[in-house]
Amino acid sequence: MSVLFRKKPIASQTNESGALKRALSAFDLTTLGVGAIIGTGIFVLTGVAAAKYAGPGLVLSFLLAGIICAFAALCYSEFASTIPASGSAYTYSYTAFGEVIAWILGWDLILEYGFASAAVASGWSGYFQTLLSGFGLELPHALTSALNPEKGTYFDITAALITLIITFLLTRGVKEAARANGIMVAIKIIVVLIFIGVGVFYVQPANWHPFLPFGFSGVTAGAATVFFAYIGFDAVSTAAEEVKRPQRDLPIGIIASLAVCTVLYIVVSLILTGIVPFNMLNVSDPVAFAFEFVQLNGLSWIVSLGAITGITTVLLVMMYGQTRLLYSMSRDGLLSPVFSKVSGKSQTPAVGSWLAGIIVALFSGFISLGHLAELTNIGTLFAFAVVSIGIIVLRKNNPDLKRGFRVPLVPLIPILSALGCFYLMTRLAALTWITFFGWLIIGLIIYFAYGRHHSHLNPLRRK
Ligand code: ALA
Repeated sequence: MSVLFRKKPIASQTNESGALKRALSAFDLTTLGVGAIIGTGIFVLTGVAAAKYAGPGLVLSFLLAGIICAFAALCYSEFASTIPASGSAYTYSYTAFGEVIAWILGWDLILEYGFASAAVASGWSGYFQTLLSGFGLELPHALTSALNPEKGTYFDITAALITLIITFLLTRGVKEAARANGIMVAIKIIVVLIFIGVGVFYVQPANWHPFLPFGFSGVTAGAATVFFAYIGFDAVSTAAEEVKRPQRDLPIGIIASLAVCTVLYIVVSLILTGIVPFNMLNVSDPVAFAFEFVQLNGLSWIVSLGAITGITTVLLVMMYGQTRLLYSMSRDGLLSPVFSKVSGKSQTPAVGSWLAGIIVALFSGFISLGHLAELTNIGTLFAFAVVSIGIIVLRKNNPDLKRGFRVPLVPLIPILSALGCFYLMTRLAALTWITFFGWLIIGLIIYFAYGRHHSHLNPLRRK
Protein backbone atom coordinates (compact mmCIF):
# COMPACT_ATOMS: atom_id res chain seq x y z
CA MET A 1 0.00 0.00 0.00
CA SER A 2 2.68 2.47 1.01
CA VAL A 3 4.33 1.96 -2.39
CA LEU A 4 1.25 3.40 -4.06
CA PHE A 5 1.34 6.44 -1.85
CA ARG A 6 5.09 7.11 -1.95
CA LYS A 7 5.54 10.88 -2.03
CA LYS A 8 7.98 13.08 -3.84
CA PRO A 9 9.90 15.18 -1.31
CA ILE A 10 9.22 18.89 -1.73
CA ALA A 11 12.91 19.81 -1.80
CA SER A 12 13.61 17.53 -4.76
CA GLN A 13 10.99 19.30 -6.80
CA THR A 14 12.10 22.84 -6.22
CA ASN A 15 15.71 21.82 -6.85
CA GLU A 16 14.84 20.65 -10.31
CA SER A 17 14.17 24.27 -11.10
CA GLY A 18 17.79 25.35 -11.49
CA ALA A 19 17.94 24.85 -15.25
CA LEU A 20 15.47 27.50 -16.35
CA LYS A 21 16.04 31.23 -16.31
CA ARG A 22 13.93 33.20 -13.83
CA ALA A 23 12.72 36.10 -15.93
CA LEU A 24 8.95 36.43 -15.45
CA SER A 25 7.25 39.09 -13.31
CA ALA A 26 3.72 39.22 -11.87
CA PHE A 27 2.66 41.31 -14.87
CA ASP A 28 4.10 38.76 -17.32
CA LEU A 29 2.23 36.02 -15.51
CA THR A 30 -1.04 37.93 -15.67
CA THR A 31 -0.55 38.37 -19.42
CA LEU A 32 0.25 34.69 -19.73
CA GLY A 33 -2.90 33.85 -17.79
CA VAL A 34 -5.17 36.09 -19.82
CA GLY A 35 -3.57 34.62 -22.95
CA ALA A 36 -4.47 31.15 -21.76
CA ILE A 37 -7.97 31.99 -20.58
CA ILE A 38 -9.86 34.11 -23.14
CA GLY A 39 -10.69 31.96 -26.15
CA THR A 40 -13.26 29.51 -27.43
CA GLY A 41 -15.22 29.73 -24.17
CA ILE A 42 -16.24 33.36 -24.52
CA PHE A 43 -16.06 33.61 -28.32
CA VAL A 44 -18.00 30.41 -29.08
CA LEU A 45 -19.54 28.51 -26.15
CA THR A 46 -21.45 31.55 -24.86
CA GLY A 47 -23.76 31.14 -27.86
CA VAL A 48 -24.80 27.56 -27.19
CA ALA A 49 -24.93 28.12 -23.42
CA ALA A 50 -27.34 31.04 -23.87
CA ALA A 51 -29.50 29.37 -26.53
CA LYS A 52 -29.76 25.93 -24.95
CA TYR A 53 -29.48 26.48 -21.22
CA ALA A 54 -29.32 29.85 -19.58
CA GLY A 55 -30.91 32.46 -21.86
CA PRO A 56 -30.02 36.01 -20.78
CA GLY A 57 -29.30 34.48 -17.35
CA LEU A 58 -25.96 33.54 -18.94
CA VAL A 59 -24.43 36.29 -16.89
CA LEU A 60 -25.37 34.37 -13.73
CA SER A 61 -23.77 31.23 -15.20
CA PHE A 62 -20.55 33.17 -15.65
CA LEU A 63 -20.81 34.55 -12.15
CA LEU A 64 -21.36 31.11 -10.60
CA ALA A 65 -18.54 29.46 -12.55
CA GLY A 66 -16.32 32.46 -11.78
CA ILE A 67 -16.90 32.18 -8.01
CA ILE A 68 -16.06 28.46 -8.01
CA CYS A 69 -12.93 29.15 -10.05
CA ALA A 70 -11.94 31.93 -7.64
CA PHE A 71 -11.99 29.47 -4.72
CA ALA A 72 -9.99 26.97 -6.75
CA ALA A 73 -7.58 29.72 -7.83
CA LEU A 74 -6.85 30.54 -4.17
CA CYS A 75 -5.94 26.89 -3.60
CA TYR A 76 -3.78 26.78 -6.72
CA SER A 77 -2.06 29.94 -5.51
CA GLU A 78 -1.09 28.43 -2.17
CA PHE A 79 0.32 25.33 -3.85
CA ALA A 80 2.14 27.37 -6.47
CA SER A 81 3.69 29.60 -3.81
CA THR A 82 4.75 26.62 -1.71
CA ILE A 83 5.98 24.24 -4.41
CA PRO A 84 7.04 26.42 -7.34
CA ALA A 85 7.88 23.59 -9.73
CA SER A 86 6.58 22.90 -13.22
CA GLY A 87 3.95 20.22 -13.69
CA SER A 88 1.31 22.13 -11.71
CA ALA A 89 -1.48 20.11 -10.12
CA TYR A 90 0.23 16.82 -10.97
CA THR A 91 3.35 17.86 -9.07
CA TYR A 92 1.30 19.21 -6.15
CA SER A 93 -0.52 15.98 -5.66
CA TYR A 94 2.74 14.00 -5.84
CA THR A 95 3.66 15.88 -2.67
CA ALA A 96 0.31 15.99 -0.93
CA PHE A 97 -1.14 12.58 -1.71
CA GLY A 98 1.56 10.34 -3.15
CA GLU A 99 2.21 8.58 -6.41
CA VAL A 100 -0.98 6.81 -7.36
CA ILE A 101 -3.14 9.91 -6.86
CA ALA A 102 -0.53 12.01 -8.67
CA TRP A 103 -0.71 9.58 -11.56
CA ILE A 104 -4.52 9.70 -11.62
CA LEU A 105 -4.39 13.49 -11.62
CA GLY A 106 -1.66 13.64 -14.25
CA TRP A 107 -3.59 11.23 -16.44
CA ASP A 108 -6.70 13.35 -15.86
CA LEU A 109 -4.80 16.47 -16.86
CA ILE A 110 -3.64 14.80 -20.07
CA LEU A 111 -7.35 14.45 -20.81
CA GLU A 112 -7.98 18.08 -19.83
CA TYR A 113 -5.22 19.56 -21.96
CA GLY A 114 -5.80 17.17 -24.85
CA PHE A 115 -9.53 17.75 -25.11
CA ALA A 116 -9.20 21.45 -24.32
CA SER A 117 -6.75 21.82 -27.20
CA ALA A 118 -9.08 19.94 -29.51
CA ALA A 119 -12.08 22.03 -28.37
CA VAL A 120 -10.20 25.28 -28.79
CA ALA A 121 -9.09 24.22 -32.28
CA SER A 122 -12.70 23.46 -33.11
CA GLY A 123 -13.76 26.97 -32.01
CA TRP A 124 -10.92 28.40 -34.08
CA SER A 125 -12.22 26.54 -37.09
CA GLY A 126 -15.72 28.07 -36.74
CA TYR A 127 -14.38 31.62 -36.88
CA PHE A 128 -11.90 30.82 -39.60
CA GLN A 129 -14.61 29.46 -41.83
CA THR A 130 -16.70 32.60 -41.27
CA LEU A 131 -13.73 34.63 -42.36
CA LEU A 132 -13.21 32.47 -45.45
CA SER A 133 -16.84 32.76 -46.44
CA GLY A 134 -16.44 36.55 -46.25
CA PHE A 135 -14.05 36.13 -49.16
CA GLY A 136 -16.53 33.87 -50.95
CA LEU A 137 -14.51 30.74 -50.16
CA GLU A 138 -16.25 27.60 -48.94
CA LEU A 139 -14.72 24.26 -47.96
CA PRO A 140 -16.37 21.02 -49.16
CA HIS A 141 -19.31 20.55 -46.79
CA ALA A 142 -18.11 17.11 -45.57
CA LEU A 143 -14.93 18.71 -44.21
CA THR A 144 -16.47 21.69 -42.40
CA SER A 145 -17.37 20.08 -39.10
CA ALA A 146 -16.95 17.05 -36.81
CA LEU A 147 -18.33 13.60 -37.59
CA ASN A 148 -22.11 13.82 -38.00
CA PRO A 149 -23.32 11.74 -40.97
CA GLU A 150 -26.91 12.98 -40.54
CA LYS A 151 -25.73 16.49 -41.35
CA GLY A 152 -23.33 15.23 -43.99
CA THR A 153 -20.17 16.31 -42.14
CA TYR A 154 -17.29 13.93 -41.43
CA PHE A 155 -14.13 15.76 -40.45
CA ASP A 156 -13.27 19.30 -39.37
CA ILE A 157 -10.23 19.76 -41.54
CA THR A 158 -9.33 23.30 -40.42
CA ALA A 159 -9.40 22.32 -36.74
CA ALA A 160 -7.04 19.41 -37.42
CA LEU A 161 -4.72 21.55 -39.54
CA ILE A 162 -4.36 24.39 -37.00
CA THR A 163 -3.52 21.79 -34.35
CA LEU A 164 -0.72 20.41 -36.50
CA ILE A 165 0.57 23.91 -37.31
CA ILE A 166 0.75 24.79 -33.61
CA THR A 167 2.52 21.49 -32.90
CA PHE A 168 5.05 22.41 -35.56
CA LEU A 169 5.58 25.84 -33.96
CA LEU A 170 6.08 24.32 -30.53
CA THR A 171 8.66 21.87 -31.80
CA ARG A 172 10.57 24.77 -33.35
CA GLY A 173 11.16 26.24 -29.89
CA VAL A 174 9.21 27.80 -27.12
CA LYS A 175 10.83 31.25 -27.27
CA GLU A 176 9.60 31.92 -30.78
CA ALA A 177 6.11 30.86 -29.80
CA ALA A 178 6.17 33.01 -26.65
CA ARG A 179 7.20 36.11 -28.59
CA ALA A 180 4.20 35.85 -30.90
CA ASN A 181 2.00 35.18 -27.87
CA GLY A 182 2.38 38.66 -26.30
CA ILE A 183 1.22 40.50 -29.41
CA MET A 184 -1.71 38.16 -29.92
CA VAL A 185 -2.89 38.61 -26.32
CA ALA A 186 -2.95 42.39 -26.82
CA ILE A 187 -5.01 42.05 -30.00
CA LYS A 188 -7.46 39.75 -28.26
CA ILE A 189 -8.07 42.17 -25.39
CA ILE A 190 -8.51 45.11 -27.76
CA VAL A 191 -11.14 43.16 -29.71
CA VAL A 192 -13.05 42.28 -26.53
CA LEU A 193 -12.96 45.94 -25.48
CA ILE A 194 -14.21 47.02 -28.93
CA PHE A 195 -17.09 44.57 -28.60
CA ILE A 196 -17.98 46.03 -25.21
CA GLY A 197 -17.46 49.68 -26.18
CA VAL A 198 -19.52 49.51 -29.39
CA GLY A 199 -21.95 46.75 -28.45
CA VAL A 200 -23.26 48.59 -25.42
CA PHE A 201 -24.98 51.08 -27.74
CA TYR A 202 -26.92 48.33 -29.50
CA VAL A 203 -28.37 46.62 -26.44
CA GLN A 204 -32.16 46.25 -26.46
CA PRO A 205 -33.18 45.64 -22.84
CA ALA A 206 -36.29 43.83 -24.14
CA ASN A 207 -33.95 40.97 -25.17
CA TRP A 208 -33.24 40.34 -21.48
CA HIS A 209 -36.87 39.24 -20.92
CA PRO A 210 -37.58 36.58 -19.94
CA PHE A 211 -34.34 36.61 -17.98
CA LEU A 212 -34.40 32.94 -16.98
CA PRO A 213 -36.32 31.14 -19.75
CA PHE A 214 -35.06 27.73 -18.53
CA GLY A 215 -35.19 28.48 -14.80
CA PHE A 216 -32.30 28.32 -12.37
CA SER A 217 -31.36 24.81 -13.49
CA GLY A 218 -30.60 26.34 -16.88
CA VAL A 219 -28.22 28.73 -15.14
CA THR A 220 -26.31 25.89 -13.47
CA ALA A 221 -26.18 23.79 -16.65
CA GLY A 222 -24.93 26.94 -18.41
CA ALA A 223 -22.28 27.35 -15.71
CA ALA A 224 -21.05 23.79 -16.27
CA THR A 225 -20.59 24.70 -19.96
CA VAL A 226 -19.07 28.17 -19.69
CA PHE A 227 -16.75 26.93 -16.96
CA PHE A 228 -14.62 26.11 -19.99
CA ALA A 229 -14.09 29.84 -20.52
CA TYR A 230 -12.18 30.11 -17.23
CA ILE A 231 -9.80 27.22 -17.78
CA GLY A 232 -6.25 28.40 -18.23
CA PHE A 233 -5.47 30.33 -15.04
CA ASP A 234 -4.00 27.07 -13.77
CA ALA A 235 -1.56 27.25 -16.67
CA VAL A 236 0.11 30.19 -14.93
CA SER A 237 1.47 27.81 -12.34
CA THR A 238 3.16 25.70 -15.03
CA ALA A 239 5.59 28.61 -15.48
CA ALA A 240 6.64 28.35 -11.83
CA GLU A 241 10.26 27.55 -12.55
CA GLU A 242 10.72 30.67 -14.65
CA VAL A 243 9.30 33.26 -12.23
CA LYS A 244 11.53 35.86 -10.53
CA ARG A 245 9.80 35.87 -7.15
CA PRO A 246 7.50 32.86 -7.37
CA GLN A 247 6.11 32.95 -3.85
CA ARG A 248 4.80 36.47 -4.29
CA ASP A 249 4.22 36.69 -8.04
CA LEU A 250 2.47 33.38 -8.74
CA PRO A 251 -0.57 34.09 -6.56
CA ILE A 252 -0.79 37.62 -7.99
CA GLY A 253 -0.61 36.27 -11.56
CA ILE A 254 -3.21 33.56 -10.97
CA ILE A 255 -5.72 35.72 -9.13
CA ALA A 256 -5.28 38.86 -11.27
CA SER A 257 -5.72 37.04 -14.59
CA LEU A 258 -8.84 35.32 -13.31
CA ALA A 259 -10.25 38.61 -11.99
CA VAL A 260 -9.67 40.45 -15.29
CA CYS A 261 -11.35 37.69 -17.27
CA THR A 262 -14.32 37.38 -14.91
CA VAL A 263 -15.12 41.09 -15.28
CA LEU A 264 -14.78 40.94 -19.08
CA TYR A 265 -16.96 37.82 -19.32
CA ILE A 266 -19.74 39.26 -17.23
CA VAL A 267 -19.89 42.41 -19.32
CA VAL A 268 -19.60 40.56 -22.66
CA SER A 269 -22.36 38.08 -21.78
CA LEU A 270 -24.71 40.89 -20.75
CA ILE A 271 -24.08 42.79 -23.97
CA LEU A 272 -24.27 39.71 -26.19
CA THR A 273 -27.67 38.64 -24.86
CA GLY A 274 -28.77 42.28 -24.97
CA ILE A 275 -28.01 42.63 -28.69
CA VAL A 276 -29.27 39.27 -30.00
CA PRO A 277 -32.38 37.38 -28.79
CA PHE A 278 -30.89 34.42 -26.91
CA ASN A 279 -32.58 31.75 -29.02
CA MET A 280 -30.72 32.94 -32.11
CA LEU A 281 -27.28 32.59 -30.55
CA ASN A 282 -26.60 28.93 -31.29
CA VAL A 283 -24.03 29.68 -34.02
CA SER A 284 -20.32 28.91 -34.33
CA ASP A 285 -19.27 32.58 -34.08
CA PRO A 286 -21.78 34.31 -31.73
CA VAL A 287 -19.68 37.38 -30.88
CA ALA A 288 -19.07 38.27 -34.54
CA PHE A 289 -22.66 37.32 -35.32
CA ALA A 290 -23.94 39.93 -32.81
CA PHE A 291 -22.30 42.70 -34.83
CA GLU A 292 -23.60 41.24 -38.08
CA PHE A 293 -27.04 41.16 -36.50
CA VAL A 294 -26.97 44.94 -36.12
CA GLN A 295 -25.43 45.44 -39.58
CA LEU A 296 -21.95 46.27 -38.35
CA ASN A 297 -20.34 43.99 -40.92
CA GLY A 298 -16.91 45.63 -40.92
CA LEU A 299 -16.63 45.33 -37.15
CA SER A 300 -17.92 41.78 -37.30
CA TRP A 301 -15.01 40.96 -39.58
CA ILE A 302 -12.55 42.60 -37.17
CA VAL A 303 -14.02 40.64 -34.26
CA SER A 304 -13.61 37.40 -36.22
CA LEU A 305 -10.00 38.20 -36.94
CA GLY A 306 -9.39 39.11 -33.27
CA ALA A 307 -11.14 35.94 -32.10
CA ILE A 308 -8.97 33.80 -34.36
CA THR A 309 -5.85 35.51 -33.07
CA GLY A 310 -6.99 35.21 -29.47
CA ILE A 311 -8.02 31.60 -29.73
CA THR A 312 -4.62 30.81 -31.24
CA THR A 313 -2.88 31.96 -28.04
CA VAL A 314 -5.05 29.62 -25.98
CA LEU A 315 -4.19 26.77 -28.30
CA LEU A 316 -0.49 27.54 -27.96
CA VAL A 317 -0.64 27.55 -24.16
CA MET A 318 -2.83 24.45 -23.91
CA MET A 319 -0.68 22.41 -26.26
CA TYR A 320 2.46 23.68 -24.58
CA GLY A 321 0.94 22.71 -21.21
CA GLN A 322 0.24 19.25 -22.60
CA THR A 323 3.84 18.69 -23.68
CA ARG A 324 5.15 20.09 -20.35
CA LEU A 325 2.91 17.74 -18.39
CA LEU A 326 3.89 14.71 -20.45
CA TYR A 327 7.48 15.81 -19.99
CA SER A 328 7.16 16.00 -16.18
CA MET A 329 5.42 12.63 -15.94
CA SER A 330 7.96 11.00 -18.20
CA ARG A 331 10.83 12.61 -16.26
CA ASP A 332 9.43 10.97 -13.13
CA GLY A 333 9.41 7.61 -14.91
CA LEU A 334 5.62 7.26 -14.98
CA LEU A 335 5.37 7.60 -18.77
CA SER A 336 7.62 6.40 -21.58
CA PRO A 337 10.95 8.29 -21.88
CA VAL A 338 9.88 9.30 -25.39
CA PHE A 339 7.98 12.22 -23.86
CA SER A 340 10.99 13.70 -22.11
CA LYS A 341 13.56 13.13 -24.81
CA VAL A 342 14.57 16.59 -26.00
CA SER A 343 16.07 16.77 -29.43
CA GLY A 344 17.14 19.02 -32.26
CA LYS A 345 18.37 22.59 -32.18
CA SER A 346 15.21 23.78 -30.47
CA GLN A 347 15.75 21.48 -27.47
CA THR A 348 12.08 20.51 -27.29
CA PRO A 349 10.54 17.07 -26.72
CA ALA A 350 9.73 16.83 -30.42
CA VAL A 351 8.72 13.18 -30.79
CA GLY A 352 6.39 13.34 -27.79
CA SER A 353 4.92 16.63 -29.03
CA TRP A 354 4.14 15.19 -32.45
CA LEU A 355 2.60 12.10 -30.95
CA ALA A 356 0.31 14.20 -28.75
CA GLY A 357 -0.31 16.72 -31.55
CA ILE A 358 -1.50 14.08 -34.01
CA ILE A 359 -3.91 12.54 -31.49
CA VAL A 360 -5.31 15.97 -30.60
CA ALA A 361 -5.68 16.77 -34.32
CA LEU A 362 -7.75 13.62 -34.83
CA PHE A 363 -9.96 14.45 -31.84
CA SER A 364 -10.52 17.99 -33.07
CA GLY A 365 -11.41 16.68 -36.52
CA PHE A 366 -13.87 13.98 -35.49
CA ILE A 367 -15.49 15.04 -32.19
CA SER A 368 -17.94 17.95 -31.87
CA LEU A 369 -17.07 21.06 -29.87
CA GLY A 370 -19.88 20.41 -27.38
CA HIS A 371 -18.55 16.97 -26.46
CA LEU A 372 -14.95 18.11 -26.37
CA ALA A 373 -15.80 21.00 -24.06
CA GLU A 374 -17.78 18.78 -21.67
CA LEU A 375 -14.92 16.28 -21.44
CA THR A 376 -12.47 19.08 -20.80
CA ASN A 377 -14.70 20.47 -18.08
CA ILE A 378 -15.18 17.21 -16.21
CA GLY A 379 -11.43 16.58 -16.23
CA THR A 380 -10.61 20.09 -15.07
CA LEU A 381 -13.27 20.19 -12.37
CA PHE A 382 -11.92 16.93 -11.01
CA ALA A 383 -8.38 18.36 -10.96
CA PHE A 384 -9.56 21.54 -9.20
CA ALA A 385 -11.38 19.49 -6.58
CA VAL A 386 -8.31 17.33 -5.88
CA VAL A 387 -6.06 20.40 -5.62
CA SER A 388 -8.50 22.02 -3.19
CA ILE A 389 -8.57 18.99 -0.91
CA GLY A 390 -4.79 18.83 -1.29
CA ILE A 391 -4.53 22.17 0.52
CA ILE A 392 -6.18 20.73 3.61
CA VAL A 393 -3.88 17.68 3.48
CA LEU A 394 -0.74 19.77 2.98
CA ARG A 395 -1.65 22.06 5.90
CA LYS A 396 -2.06 19.02 8.11
CA ASN A 397 1.03 17.08 6.97
CA ASN A 398 3.42 19.97 6.35
CA PRO A 399 2.23 22.81 8.59
CA ASP A 400 5.67 24.46 8.80
CA LEU A 401 6.43 24.76 5.10
CA LYS A 402 7.20 28.27 3.95
CA ARG A 403 4.18 29.54 2.05
CA GLY A 404 4.23 32.76 0.02
CA PHE A 405 0.46 32.78 -0.01
CA ARG A 406 -2.06 31.19 2.33
CA VAL A 407 -5.68 30.44 1.47
CA PRO A 408 -7.87 32.28 3.96
CA LEU A 409 -10.43 30.40 6.07
CA VAL A 410 -9.01 26.88 5.66
CA PRO A 411 -10.72 24.40 5.56
CA LEU A 412 -13.88 26.33 4.57
CA ILE A 413 -12.67 27.74 1.23
CA PRO A 414 -11.06 24.49 -0.02
CA ILE A 415 -14.22 22.59 0.97
CA LEU A 416 -16.47 25.10 -0.82
CA SER A 417 -14.20 24.89 -3.85
CA ALA A 418 -14.29 21.08 -3.97
CA LEU A 419 -18.07 20.99 -3.43
CA GLY A 420 -18.63 23.65 -6.10
CA CYS A 421 -16.53 21.69 -8.60
CA PHE A 422 -18.31 18.48 -7.78
CA TYR A 423 -21.67 20.17 -8.16
CA LEU A 424 -20.79 21.46 -11.62
CA MET A 425 -19.60 17.95 -12.55
CA THR A 426 -23.05 16.62 -11.70
CA ARG A 427 -24.53 19.04 -14.23
CA LEU A 428 -22.66 17.35 -17.10
CA ALA A 429 -24.10 14.63 -19.34
CA ALA A 430 -24.03 10.91 -18.46
CA LEU A 431 -21.97 10.12 -21.56
CA THR A 432 -19.32 12.56 -20.36
CA TRP A 433 -19.14 10.75 -17.01
CA ILE A 434 -18.87 7.36 -18.70
CA THR A 435 -16.05 8.53 -20.98
CA PHE A 436 -14.29 10.10 -18.01
CA PHE A 437 -14.43 6.90 -15.95
CA GLY A 438 -13.29 4.87 -18.95
CA TRP A 439 -10.31 7.19 -19.27
CA LEU A 440 -9.41 6.84 -15.59
CA ILE A 441 -9.62 3.04 -15.73
CA ILE A 442 -7.32 2.91 -18.76
CA GLY A 443 -4.96 5.17 -16.80
CA LEU A 444 -4.90 2.86 -13.79
CA ILE A 445 -4.16 -0.14 -16.01
CA ILE A 446 -1.21 1.73 -17.52
CA TYR A 447 0.01 2.71 -14.06
CA PHE A 448 -0.02 -0.83 -12.71
CA ALA A 449 1.47 -2.27 -15.89
CA TYR A 450 4.14 0.38 -16.43
CA GLY A 451 4.43 3.47 -14.21
CA ARG A 452 4.62 1.70 -10.85
CA HIS A 453 7.69 -0.28 -11.96
CA HIS A 454 9.44 2.51 -13.86
CA SER A 455 8.80 5.29 -11.35
CA HIS A 456 11.98 7.05 -10.27
CA LEU A 457 10.78 6.63 -6.71
CA ASN A 458 10.96 2.88 -7.12
CA PRO A 459 14.28 1.67 -5.68
CA LEU A 460 14.10 -1.51 -7.82
CA ARG A 461 13.26 0.47 -10.92
CA ARG A 462 13.42 -1.36 -14.26
CA LYS A 463 15.49 0.78 -16.58
N1 ALA B 1 -10.50 29.14 -21.39
C1 ALA B 1 -10.05 28.67 -22.64
C2 ALA B 1 -10.98 29.03 -23.73
O1 ALA B 1 -12.03 29.53 -23.46
C3 ALA B 1 -9.78 27.21 -22.63
O2 ALA B 1 -10.67 28.84 -24.89
